[in-house]
Amino acid sequence: MKKVLLVVLALMIVAGSAFADGELIGVAMPTQSLQRWNQDGANMKAQLEAKGYRVDLQYANNDIITQIQQLENMITKGAKVLVIASIDGSVLSDVLKKAKASGIKVIAYDRLIMNTPDVDYYATFDNFKVGVIQGRYIESALGLAQGKGPFNIELFAGSPDDNNAVFFNKGAMSILQPYLDKKQLVVPTNQTEFTTIAIQSWSSEKAQARMDNLIAMKYSRKTVLHAVLSPNDSLAIGIVASLKNAGYGTAKKPYPVLTGQDCDKANVKAMIAGQQSMSIFKDTRTLAAQVVAMVEAIMKGKEAPVNDTKTYNNGVKVVPSYLCDPVYADKFNFRTLLIDSGYYTEADLQ
Ligand code: BGC
Repeated sequence: MKKVLLVVLALMIVAGSAFADGELIGVAMPTQSLQRWNQDGANMKAQLEAKGYRVDLQYANNDIITQIQQLENMITKGAKVLVIASIDGSVLSDVLKKAKASGIKVIAYDRLIMNTPDVDYYATFDNFKVGVIQGRYIESALGLAQGKGPFNIELFAGSPDDNNAVFFNKGAMSILQPYLDKKQLVVPTNQTEFTTIAIQSWSSEKAQARMDNLIAMKYSRKTVLHAVLSPNDSLAIGIVASLKNAGYGTAKKPYPVLTGQDCDKANVKAMIAGQQSMSIFKDTRTLAAQVVAMVEAIMKGKEAPVNDTKTYNNGVKVVPSYLCDPVYADKFNFRTLLIDSGYYTEADLQ
């Protein structure tokens, strides 16, 4: 019996040394109110634990002070790496200075951390490309490349404190601007500036309120809305609610072409119901796997794998980045992308 125990013990020690010795990794996520971040957090935790790390996973309820306190706790607890999806990318300089002083490496997760030298790596999806795909979707749905138009469009952008929002907008406008110039696309409200169209905190309610205003301002019985550029799914939810209230979604007044991002369950259902046209699919499993590979390299004292060393300047330095590839889902391909890949079950979307 003793022998068996000894063998088991020895095996456990050997197995343990092949793992990561239970080092602590801090994972700071912005909020649980949006489905994607729950998935990001769960994937990160599962994949890191499978490699033998201990994980301190925290959500900050979209509150900046809470996120800073959570990071301070992680530093105190002796985390070796901090993985941070920031709420406001430009307010973490002080806490990251402390991390640096403690020899902790920092990976910006999905959103770039701005104005600090103390961020080592950035892992995200190609944010400019996200916007390009949304722009291309509108271009193709309206037949703009074939010269069709003019069509009425309204533009939305994401939270101004999120660097990604700027990239999404630039990517989409790189496709749409030429059609605005040629008047194949018209913005009846004239609201095109980033600062005017940006929605603080990616709020569905604020997007709904803005859409209500735009409709009241310009969309009478005669003026029909043909397309809405929404950078993500939380905004699209608010936009659809507003459109529904305004009588869109009938044979006479069909929903406009509407973009999104994240493939949240509610939005995939909206796609199936014909209320939202597409959503960018960013497989959070892929991003988590990439970040885990970064953590592993860092823990071995190596450089982490990156594939972009020029795009993401945070105001102090260009942060070495790994960009994953986004694709779009719509009602025609969502089954293959989302269900066959095991991302969702059939039941998730009912
Ligand atoms: C992410 C999007 C997300 C948005 C709102 C962005 O930084 O890249 O995927 O929809 O934040 O949470």
